Amino acid sequence: EEMHLEQRFEARIDDGGFIEAKDWMPEHYRKTLTRQISQHAHSEIVGMLPEGNWVTRAPTLKRKAILLAKIQDEGGHGLYLYAAAETLGTSRDQLLGALHSGKAKYSSIFNYPTLTWADVGVIGWLVDGAAIMNQVPLCRCSYAPYARAMVRICREESFHQRQGYDALLVMMQQGTPEQKAMVQDAVNRWWWPCLMMFGPPDAESVHSVQSMRWGIKRISNDDLRQKFVDATVQQAEVLGVTLPDPELKWNEQRGHWDFGTIDWDEFWRVVGGDGPCNRERLGMRVKAWNDGAWVREAALAHARKQATKQEA
Ligand code: ACO
Repeated sequence: EEMHLEQRFEARIDDGGFIEAKDWMPEHYRKTLTRQISQHAHSEIVGMLPEGNWVTRAPTLKRKAILLAKIQDEGGHGLYLYAAAETLGTSRDQLLGALHSGKAKYSSIFNYPTLTWADVGVIGWLVDGAAIMNQVPLCRCSYAPYARAMVRICREESFHQRQGYDALLVMMQQGTPEQKAMVQDAVNRWWWPCLMMFGPPDAESVHSVQSMRWGIKRISNDDLRQKFVDATVQQAEVLGVTLPDPELKWNEQRGHWDFGTIDWDEFWRVVGGDGPCNRERLGMRVKAWNDGAWVREAALAHARKQATKQEA
């Protein structure tokens, strides 16, 4: 019976078909998806923190309203993704427990500080731009609940990217020399960490071969990174900023932009918990969770009361 189920699963994967929550799946497939989707969910809610620092300091009412809406979207993305992860059989409490105890990973990028208002624009342009590049192929992920969540997330993510680019364009075209310098400085600090978002080089990516085979990942870490560089060079030109890489050069033969060497030691340090803001971010998350205890208790008490009323 097990053999038969596995063959059906493999055949569906080979056909490029989708797997639903109630379908049989190998334990390793379930574990891989739980890992990736929960890391993704954690990234969404930790990603709210660096921007949250700027809500009270946004330069205009319009920018503040946009920023609030974007941060709220990210909370929503976290909810879709936790719900998708739960369909694989791990509870949200367990997933959050792993985040709060420091056991679970979330994207390295959110461990860097947001020093100026330009950082908020650059997060939209480059961080969300990199996120979309990685997330569009996930709309065709073989696990259907994840793929469906990604469709909605990608639509909102492209709005996030555009608002960031727009905020920077205003600073570059109408700003003072100081404001323009601020944008360039933010680009200098965020460029390399953004390239790291796509994960280690393919040769060192432990999960890639299996995840590609299962149709969880459709495009490799290095190929997505290259696509991102190729798409961003021209946007930087229009904006009038320089990408901080002297080795960035058009390669006629490859039909791609060549770029310099990424500092992988820095990447693993940040992933391992020792980046500039890891402790602060995790501390804020745990505090938010503890501060929200009364809301969860009140909601549970309300649900219990409703249930008793219905019984009576
Ligand atoms: N930050 C933190 N950890 C990372 C990163 C990163 N940028 N890139 C890779 N890693 C981790 C992996 O999670 C894995 O760790 P684990 O074995 O403990 O789970 C390890 O490094 C090895 O990497 P890979 O073998 O390449 O892992 P994987 O096949 O999962 O690929 C990737 C990594 C590309 C990030 C993939 O998981 C993915 O596409 N995730 C969904 C997208 C996502 O999480 N985006 C979040 C940032 S964008 C945003 O939220 C706005």
